[in-house]
Amino acid sequence: MSERIVIVEVGPRDGLQNEKQSVDVETKVALIERLAAAGCPVVEAGAFVSPKWTPQMAASDQVMARMKRRAGASYPALVPNMKGYEGARAARADTIAVFAAASETFSQRNINCSIAESLERFRPVMEAARADGIRVRGYVSCVLGCPYEGKVPLAAVVKVAKALYDMGCYEISLGDTIGVGTAGEARAMIRAVAGEIPVAALAGHYHDTYGQALANIWASIEEGARVFDSSVSGLGGCPYAPGAAGNVATEDVAYMLAGSGFETGIDLDALVETSLWISRALGRAPGSKVARALAAK
Ligand code: HMG
Ligand code: MG
Repeated sequence: MSERIVIVEVGPRDGLQNEKQSVDVETKVALIERLAAAGCPVVEAGAFVSPKWTPQMAASDQVMARMKRRAGASYPALVPNMKGYEGARAARADTIAVFAAASETFSQRNINCSIAESLERFRPVMEAARADGIRVRGYVSCVLGCPYEGKVPLAAVVKVAKALYDMGCYEISLGDTIGVGTAGEARAMIRAVAGEIPVAALAGHYHDTYGQALANIWASIEEGARVFDSSVSGLGGCPYAPGAAGNVATEDVAYMLAGSGFETGIDLDALVETSLWISRALGRAPGSKVARALAAK
């Protein structure tokens, strides 16, 4: 049996949060359902953040109320504070994700507080989630660079990742928010964090601004990581990281992993169909080379 890698599909959240045009609830629901039907085991479905900060995620409650959930699939939602937690719980989220940063300036710009304040804010969220039986994932942004501060010391990444893990997050997703990192840097970063946290609890979340994300995933696999976040058609970016491109495209990751003998459970044809469909709905060409190549056949 081949080795399994878990792909966490973040397109409906990380992808669509950055759309200039408004995307209706029906399209979001259809996107989530198609991704799960294509075999994505985890589909990040929304974010319970301030609608003033990230207007595209405002209807996450409606999206989660309407979407059909597949048995065995998981549908995490982002939560920055207790207000967000109450929203996610009411929406029957099985998993939530708290999000911190390794850079102070990014933390201020993204969630309007310091790193230490954000961790304090997450404590009651963790407690409530534990009591309610909801799993909590933890994100660390700017692990390979910050749009405001430039280089970010590895020690800062390790410190925040460990704080989230010690607080009870089952998995720590390490975000190259602006997609500047290279394979050598990703390798060193995963190795440093894995010195403090079991590598099985780490995920790579690589944006593809400089076209380095697949190489970064491969370097992370060589370090033992087995969970990667990606976005169908390479949708997205972060509204608080100017110029950042979307996550690495899920089609490209699925193609690389299948060709290298890893099992993801994803049906590439169904995924590419979904990529072409959402690209048409958004009025653009797919951001995945694999989707474009297969569509041209
Ligand atoms: P704040 O303005 O400091 O919050 O924002 P506040 O507590 O002072 O409240 C201000 C207003 O927001 C109040 O409403 C609150 O009720 C409301 P008002 O009285 O003015 O009408 N409010 C909320 N509304 C809905 N849901 C909530 C919520 N909380 C407060 N949860 C806050 C602080 C954290 C809320 C804000 O900064 C925020 O929402 N930030 C989120 C920004 C965001 O969505 N960023 C993108 C996601 S992170 C990302 O993409 C990176 C990642 O992909 C990894 C990577 O790539 O690195 C995960
Ligand atoms: Mg991201």
